[in-house]
Amino acid sequence: MIFDDLRAIQLRYGFLPKAELEAFSHRSHTPLYQIHSVASFYPHFHLAPPAKADVRICADMSCHLNGACELRAELEQRFAKNSPADVQIRDVSCLGRCDQAPAVSINDQIFTSVTAASTEAIVRSAILGEEIPEPQPEHARVRCESDPYGEDEKYGVVRKLTATKDWDGVFAELKASELRGMGGAGFPTSMKWDLVRKQPGTEKYIVCNADESEPGTIKDRFIMTHLAHLVIEGMIIAGLVTGAKRGILYIRHEYHLQEEILGEELRRCYHGGLLGKTILGSDLGFELEIFVSPGGYICGEESALLEAIEGKRAEPRNKPPFPGQAGLWQKPTVINNVETFANVPQILARGVEWYKTQGKNGSRGLKFVGVSGHAAKPGIFEVPMGTPMREVIFHHAGGIRDGRQLKAFAPSGPSSGFLPASMVDVRLDFKALAEAGSMLGSGAIVVCDDRTCMLDMALNAVRFYRNESCGKCVPCRVGSQKMTDLLVRWTHTGIPEQQYRADLALIDELCQAMSLTSICGLGQIVPAPVQSLLKHFREEVDAHVLKGLCPSGICFTPAARAGEAQRVGIRP
Ligand SMILES: Cc1cc2nc3c(=O)[nH]c(=O)nc-3n(C[C@H](O)[C@H](O)[C@H](O)COP(=O)(O)O)c2cc1C
Ligand code: SF4
Ligand code: FES
Repeated sequence: MIFDDLRAIQLRYGFLPKAELEAFSHRSHTPLYQIHSVASFYPHFHLAPPAKADVRICADMSCHLNGACELRAELEQRFAKNSPADVQIRDVSCLGRCDQAPAVSINDQIFTSVTAASTEAIVRSAILGEEIPEPQPEHARVRCESDPYGEDEKYGVVRKLTATKDWDGVFAELKASELRGMGGAGFPTSMKWDLVRKQPGTEKYIVCNADESEPGTIKDRFIMTHLAHLVIEGMIIAGLVTGAKRGILYIRHEYHLQEEILGEELRRCYHGGLLGKTILGSDLGFELEIFVSPGGYICGEESALLEAIEGKRAEPRNKPPFPGQAGLWQKPTVINNVETFANVPQILARGVEWYKTQGKNGSRGLKFVGVSGHAAKPGIFEVPMGTPMREVIFHHAGGIRDGRQLKAFAPSGPSSGFLPASMVDVRLDFKALAEAGSMLGSGAIVVCDDRTCMLDMALNAVRFYRNESCGKCVPCRVGSQKMTDLLVRWTHTGIPEQQYRADLALIDELCQAMSLTSICGLGQIVPAPVQSLLKHFREEVDAHVLKGLCPSGICFTPAARAGEAQRVGIRP
C-alpha cells in the first residue's frame, strides 16, 4: 500500500525527500508522478522538512468562536524572532476537538483548550527537541442508554444470527425501524444494505466512515470511545446479511485514542471467535481491519474515501454507479457512518417497538449530538431524537457562556447554515430541520452568543469549504473562492448600493451553479452559510455592506483586516 510506504519514509526523515520518493518509485514500479500526486494531496504528508515546531491552529467554527484568531496573532508575536526552521505557525482545518476549543496540533500531537502561554511552553520544548506527548484524556467507559448489553453480554445479536441465519428477519426489522444514515445524508439504511445483498458475486465490502472532519462534528469520537463494540457488531451484521466477507473501518488520523480502543476491541473479537474465517465455529466468516486516513475533510465523502483506501487521491467519483453497485475496488460496498452501524445492534437486540419509543414528538431512536461554540458546557450528549434544540442547548449544554444571550446556532456545522435564536424550538429531527430550511446532518450543533458577527461566521464557514475543496470540478474549485472573495469584500469595505445589488445577483447565480453542477456534496453545500445569512440576518449584511458598519464590532478593524486577509490568502 502506497500510504504505508510513504508513512515509513516520513517516519524516518520527518518528511518525504525527493531521492526517497524516486527510490520508492523504482522499487515499486510505480510512476513517480503517481506517487507525487498522492503525496501532495494529503495534509498528513510533508514534501519539505517541517520546522522543529510545526504549529497548526484550528481556525474553524468552534475554535474561531473561542479565540483561534487572537491565539494565532499572539503566538506569531511571541515567536517573531525565531527562524522559520524553528517554528512554523499556520492554520489547520477542524481537529475533531470542537468541544475543547481552541485546539492546536504541534508536531502532529493535539492539545486542547489551549492559551497562548500554554502553547508557547509546548512550542519552546519542541524547539529544544524535547518530547511533547499528547495528553490522553480519561476514557473510563460511560454507560449509554443506547447500549443494549451488560458487560458479559456483548455481541448478542451476532451470536443469535450465526445460529438462526435469519437474514430476512434482519431486513424486516431494519426496514420497520426506518433507520436512516447518521453521517449527514440520512439515506435509509435497509435500502442501502439490500442493494448490496442483491448484487451478484462474492467479493463485497463493508466500510465504516469514521472520518468525522466537519467543524463541530465530534459525536463519532464519543461513540468509538464508549460504544466501540456496537460499531463493530453493526459492521459484522452488515457483512453477514449482505454476504460481504471483509470490512474496513476508516478513521481520521487525529483520533489516536479511538484507534487504540477499536484495535483492542478487534483483538478481543478475533480472540473470542467473533471475527475471522469461521465466526463462532460456523461456516460464516468476516474479517475487519482499521484504515487510518491520511487526512482531509473530503475523505469523508463516501466515494473519495474509497479512492483513498485504494491508495489514490481522495477525489470523489461521478455517481452513478453508487458504492452499493461499484464501490471499493469496483465491488458492491456498504458504507455507513459510525452511529448508523452502532444503531443496528440496538434495534435488533431490543426490537423496533423499543426503538420507536426512544424518540420524542413522533421521532424514533436516540441521537448523539456534539454541542460546541459559545455553550457553557460544550460536549457530546445522547438525547431522544425529536428533542427541541432549546433543551439540548440550554439543558444539556448548560446554555450560553458568561450569561450571554443566544444569537444563532448551526444545527450541523457549516453545511446546515445558521438559524436565529427565534428558531431554537425546532426539533432535532430530519424532517423538522429540513422544514426549517436547515438539516439534521451529523448533529454538530454550534452555538453563537449575542456578540457574534454572522458575516464573520459565514466567511469562516465558506473559507473552510474553499480550503477543503479537492479541486476536481470547476464549480466548486472556482465557486468556493469566488464566494470567499465576495464575503471578504463585504466584511472589509462598504460598497455602493449598485455594486451590492450586482454582488447579490452574482451570489444567486453562483449558489445555483454550485448546487446543480458540483460533483459531490461539498460543492453542493458551499452556498448554505451565505444563503442562511441572507435569509435570517439580512439587516446585519446590509449594515456591513451599505454602511461599512459591523454591529458586533468585529469586522472593519485593522486587526480584522490583516487577520482575515491572511486567512483567506489575499494580500492586504
Ligand atoms: C465532503 C463530505 C464529507 C463527508 N464526511 C463524512 C464523514 O466524516 N462521516 C460520515 O459518516 N459521512 C460523511 N459524509 C457523508 C458520506 O458521503 C456518506 O453519505 C455517509 O458516510 C453514508 O453513511 P450513512 O448512510 O450511514 O450516513 C460526507 C459527505 C461529504 C460530501
Ligand atoms: S464538489 Fe468540490 S470537493 Fe467535490 S469533487 Fe468537486 S471540487 Fe472536489
Ligand atoms: S477542533 Fe476546531 S472547530 Fe473542531
